[in-house]
Amino acid sequence: KRAKRPVGAPDKSLAKKVTKVGVLGAGLMASQFALLFLRRLQVPVVITDLDQARVDKGLEYIRDEIAKLEGKGRLDADTANKLRGLLHGTTDKAEYADCDFVIEAVFEEVGVKQQVFGEIEKIIAPDAILATNTSSLSVEEIGEKLAHPERLVGFHFFNPVAVMPLIEIVKTSHTTPEALSTAFVVARGLGKNAVLTADAPGFVVNRLLAKVFGEAARALYEGTPLLTVEKAFEPLGLPMKPFQLIDLVGWKVAAHVQDTMAHAFPDRFYANENFHALAALPQVVEKDKAGRVTGWTKDAQKTLKGAVGD
Ligand code: 3HC
Repeated sequence: KRAKRPVGAPDKSLAKKVTKVGVLGAGLMASQFALLFLRRLQVPVVITDLDQARVDKGLEYIRDEIAKLEGKGRLDADTANKLRGLLHGTTDKAEYADCDFVIEAVFEEVGVKQQVFGEIEKIIAPDAILATNTSSLSVEEIGEKLAHPERLVGFHFFNPVAVMPLIEIVKTSHTTPEALSTAFVVARGLGKNAVLTADAPGFVVNRLLAKVFGEAARALYEGTPLLTVEKAFEPLGLPMKPFQLIDLVGWKVAAHVQDTMAHAFPDRFYANENFHALAALPQVVEKDKAGRVTGWTKDAQKTLKGAVGD
């Protein structure tokens, strides 16, 4: 018999109704899920960032995507216009005052996330839910400085947000059943499958991906050419090969996940300086028209050797 709700999810009747969503950050990840909130929940969505240029870039991405969906007939003109009207970008965080669900995708560092949430907590209602899209940091620690840590949940999306069906939801020792239930109901509203994972570094998915990325990078340093490494992963039947996926996630993000894992589990993950050398050299990767990794440029292997000093 199938479970009626995901394992670990509290009764959905406890969920708070979400009438306005705040997104902290207007980078690619934040913009992708701002679009998803707009499309699926059809409620006002506010995005903010450090300066207007960043906000404008996020708005442009979302508006372009709405136009593309309209062009493909996935959104009718009325809905597309409605979504445009529901989207608001600003540098003024006071706009979060009446948001009941605020999710952050700011720089992946505990101190930065704590500081941003501290600022927001002074603005939002006492019962508004806070969510973090951290990919591998401790949600408990992110909430440590909050006056109301019971309102915080981890809410981890995957790239590309529009198509990846999973969200990892994380509760801390303080999270209330109401906050957790709201997270599950929001995830369902977004059309995603949610799973409750332990608040452990990398949760579940990035633990596995960090292994794949780390081993693929190591194979490269051992001298196996990039496309051979990619081909060797074929038997696993993954939708993307390791370097293609690193490229999608972003080399810097992937390197950051590697660091977090190596720091948390030094006996199980490499302290991967080599990965940083790779992350610093994205220009050596050749791409096809669709932006997919196809191989190294001619002297890339040489550059790489120089960068890691062997
Ligand atoms: N944005 C929006 N939609 C996208 C997209 C993107 N970047 N890329 C693909 N799509 C959509 C396409 O529009 C298409 O939709 P349609 O069928 O409705 O027209 C659909 O996805 C399939 O696209 P394609 O046919 O062009 O391509 P593929 O069949 O090759 O699938 C893929 C593309 C879904 C991205 C697939 O390759 C895949 O599943 N890759 C694995 C991605 C993955 O593992 N992500 C996890 C990364 S880890 C992470 O994000 C965590 C972080 O913390 C590090």
